[in-house]
Amino acid sequence: MQIVRTASELRAALGANRSAVFVPTMGNLHEGHLSLMRLGKATGRPLVASIFVNRLQFAPHEDFASYPRTFEADCDKLRSVACDLLFAPDERELYPVEQTFRVSTPHGLGDILEGEFRPGFFEGVATVVLKLFGCVQPAVAVFGMKDYQQLMVVRRMVEQFNLPIEIVPGATMREADGLAMSSRNGYLSAAERAEAPALARALQALAQRAAQAGTPQALAEAERQALADLRARGWKPDYLAVRRRTDLAPPQAADLAAPGTLVALGAAKLGTTRLIDNLEF
Ligand code: PAF
Repeated sequence: MQIVRTASELRAALGANRSAVFVPTMGNLHEGHLSLMRLGKATGRPLVASIFVNRLQFAPHEDFASYPRTFEADCDKLRSVACDLLFAPDERELYPVEQTFRVSTPHGLGDILEGEFRPGFFEGVATVVLKLFGCVQPAVAVFGMKDYQQLMVVRRMVEQFNLPIEIVPGATMREADGLAMSSRNGYLSAAERAEAPALARALQALAQRAAQAGTPQALAEAERQALADLRARGWKPDYLAVRRRTDLAPPQAADLAAPGTLVALGAAKLGTTRLIDNLEF
C-alpha cells in the first residue's frame, strides 16, 4: 500500500486514473470500516482510503482533540484488506487557509435528527467530503449505513452538484450482542459496554411498535415510549424516531402502511459517550 500525505502526491500516484473506489475515514479503523474497504475492493477498482480527522464536523465541546488517532495500526488493517493507496493529509494540507467556502446542507435534511443535535455537523462533513472527492476524483465511493443521514446527505450533494461518482452503501457491522461497530465504542467502560446493545434493542422495539401504529399520533406515542424506556435504563437520548427512508421525513398514515419503506434512527448518550444506530424495516 502506498501512503501519500499531500494532494499533489496523491495525483502523481493516481496519474490519469479517475476510476478508483474511495472510502473516506477518520481512522481508528475497526471491522465496520474494513467491511467498507472489502466492498470497495470487490468492485475490482483500485482502492483508495483516506484518514483525516475533520475538525469542521466537531463542535467545540465535542471530542476532536481526544478522537483516537491510531495511524500505524490503521495502516496494518488497510494492508490486510489490500488497500492500494492511503491519502492521509494533515490539517495544513487540507485546510491551508481558513475554509471559508462551505457546503450548506438543506433545511429538512441537514438540520434534523443528527443535524438538530449537532448543528454544523453535516456542513462540516459535506465540505470535507467534497474536498476529498476533489483530491481523489473517484468513480465510486463507499459510505456506511451506520451513518444513515450522512449517507443521504452525501448522496444528495453528489446529485445536486452533478458529481460523476457512484455512492455505494455498506451494511452496518455489529458485535455479537448487536452493538453497531463504532470508533466511539472504545470510550465505553466495561459496564457501559454491557449496556450499549440496548440502543439497538430499543430501535427494534420501536420498529415493531411503529409497524402496528397505523397513524402518526400512535407513532408519536411509540417514540415517546421508546425514549422513556431508554431514559429509565440511565441513557440520555437525543432522539429515537421513525422516518421515511427516501427523505427522512416523518411518515404519514400511508407510509406507515407500506412495509419496507421506513427506518428507525436513534442517538443517545451512555455516560459521556454518544452512540447512534438505525434499523430499516
Ligand atoms: O464517517 C466518517 O468517518 C466521516 O464523517 C467522514 C465521512 C470520513 C468525513 O470526515
